[in-house]
Amino acid sequence: MLRRVLLSMSRSRRVRHIVETAPVSRSVVARFVAGTSAEEAVAATRTLLDKGLLASMDHLGEDTLDLQQATDVRDAYLRLLELLAAGGLTPGAEVSVKLSAVGQALPDVGEKVAVENARTICHAARNAGTTVTVDMEDHTTTDSTLGILRELRKDFPETGGVLQAYLRRTEADCRDLAYEGSRVRLCKGAYNEPESVAFTDRLDVDKSYVRCLKVLMAGEGYPMVATHDPRLVEAAQALAAQAGREKGSYEFQMLYGIRPDEQRRLAAEGHPVRVYVPYGQEWYGYLMRRLAERPANLTFFLRSLLSTK
Ligand code: FDA
Repeated sequence: MLRRVLLSMSRSRRVRHIVETAPVSRSVVARFVAGTSAEEAVAATRTLLDKGLLASMDHLGEDTLDLQQATDVRDAYLRLLELLAAGGLTPGAEVSVKLSAVGQALPDVGEKVAVENARTICHAARNAGTTVTVDMEDHTTTDSTLGILRELRKDFPETGGVLQAYLRRTEADCRDLAYEGSRVRLCKGAYNEPESVAFTDRLDVDKSYVRCLKVLMAGEGYPMVATHDPRLVEAAQALAAQAGREKGSYEFQMLYGIRPDEQRRLAAEGHPVRVYVPYGQEWYGYLMRRLAERPANLTFFLRSLLSTK
């Protein structure tokens, strides 16, 4: 219930204004967001790489309904990729892109604009010596996003995709995407979805995650196991062993600021561990989804709203 309320708040412009202008202490945003500028985020990424971790950087922003804004987000990625290459941080750091931030939701021309902008980013990523992963958003965009991924992979087969275990369709999508060279991030899913398309019981989502992992691990692609859930991390290792996979033929992914000790533990065991590093001014939707995931995060947030620091 609380999760649903927070997730619907994540889409409310009115609540967004209230939260964004509230005297939130820097620490609450800073815990989950690696800065508001590209420079700050690149510095945070360098620290992660120095600790033996990998990174996928996300310039925050979503649901763009303005062509110029979509172009600005694209340009922000181009600048970020230049900074990463100049700083010698590729290929350890790649970028994650939300198609709705680069135009997918624009009326009539959305898909065309999103493909063009995403292609430009993929091209720049390749020149910078790294890759792009296309994030997955709410279920109304799944077909469009997978279609755009297919299109991008014609010229940039290294482009990663994301599948969400809470969607009923995802096991079948895993089968379609488990081919050689296909980088697939599997996550539980972070949006407020109806029962008609998604499992809403946590246990059902976890069971679906394991079924999807089984398909990806047994397939020919490169699974990217995006979860903080200790049982699923263990399941991934067991399924990888069962499929005869070596360390390095799949990777773990976690969010910036969540379970950093576990990130380092897995890396020390020899697993590639990629940290998703969000940054930018548009942190509201991202922060609300993180709060929805864990009541403890909400307490932390409310406490810091009340603090004057
Ligand atoms: P869940 O939230 O159920 O947590 C499971 C367990 O993990 C908890 O019980 C606890 O043990 C531990 N845990 C979780 N948070 C913790 C914390 N703060 N401190 C300590 N322990 C904690 N979603 C999406 O819809 N589209 C996308 O493109 C992406 N991309 C993405 C990339 C990456 C790298 C990650 C890690 C996640 C995403 N997500 C996403 C988000 C994802 O769908 C999901 O909402 C979150 O990862 C939370 O789900 P968990 O699998 O961590 O489990």
